[in-house]
Amino acid sequence: MSDPTVEIDAYEEQALAGLESCNEPAALEAWRIEHLGSKGRLKAMMPLVKQAPPEARRDVGRRLNELKQRLESAFGERTVASAGSPPPGIDLTEPGLVSVEGRRHVLTATIDRIVEVFGRMGFEVADGPELEDEWHNFTALNIPPEHPARDRSDNFFLGGESAGHRLLRTQTSTVQIRAMEATPPPLRVIAVGRVYRPDAHDATHYSMFHQVEGLAVDRDLSMVDLKSTLVGFAKAFFGAEAEVRMRPSFFPFTEPSAEVDMWMPVKGTWQWVEIGGCGMVDPAVFEAVGIDPSEWSGFAFGLGVERVTMRRHGLGDIRRLFENDARFLRQF
Ligand code: DAH
Repeated sequence: MSDPTVEIDAYEEQALAGLESCNEPAALEAWRIEHLGSKGRLKAMMPLVKQAPPEARRDVGRRLNELKQRLESAFGERTVASAGSPPPGIDLTEPGLVSVEGRRHVLTATIDRIVEVFGRMGFEVADGPELEDEWHNFTALNIPPEHPARDRSDNFFLGGESAGHRLLRTQTSTVQIRAMEATPPPLRVIAVGRVYRPDAHDATHYSMFHQVEGLAVDRDLSMVDLKSTLVGFAKAFFGAEAEVRMRPSFFPFTEPSAEVDMWMPVKGTWQWVEIGGCGMVDPAVFEAVGIDPSEWSGFAFGLGVERVTMRRHGLGDIRRLFENDARFLRQF
């Protein structure tokens, strides 16, 4: 009778060599059935235990168990290796590229929502240049020549006379003038953009920020239309609980004029927040752009985008909005 150990060794060698040459799933499956299947060759070797002399049975049994484990694990490894084998030149152990998901800047997200809400209320987006002339930034807006807002130290003027007294606009109210010059009434426009003022940077001041400007020109518009527009906006933007409060004020381009406060959530707690100015378009402004104030009326408003955004999210420092620190911006 042949030595069962020799027979098992010979079989193991042969089976593993056969496995080595299996390069595709079908061959691997055929090998599995031939060797590890319920009617396979490994199973067929089990009687060797009984056939062995009693004193050798334990060893033969242990050897067969070992054989089974080796074939199974060799098969497992071979299956993984053949399935996952990458094309030449590709190293699967290299760290992957982490894909970074971008997002809108918190100010952009606020602006987009403001434009969307006013859009639903019939306001079209109007645009104007950031580099303006004194006519659009002051004169047409009824800001007289001696007005302190025109002071050199309160504006970014470029190059004096030769540059035609051009300046970086200090308010988006300039777009009111541009819209009325471009389109005959009636009209309803909203303009969003950057404005510039030479303020020293601190927690609440920055030399550039964003405003939203609204203008409606039609027959028989009144403060009621102005207030209902602002209330409609506040409720759509902040929720049904929102309210608008107007406090008498003065702006050269509106008469009467008011400061606008909105009852809005500040980090979840409702509060009054001052967010801009508004009023009825001053007849002098209509005259500047050739619109007859006895026929047409209008209202206008200007809101601070940073102010709304900062109060809403409870941000204490405007500079954070412009530092582009992704760790800060990712939280919105
Ligand atoms: N332009 C003003 C500012 O920058 C804000 C403003 C007030 C705009 C009243 C308006 C308005 O359209 O009617 O402070």
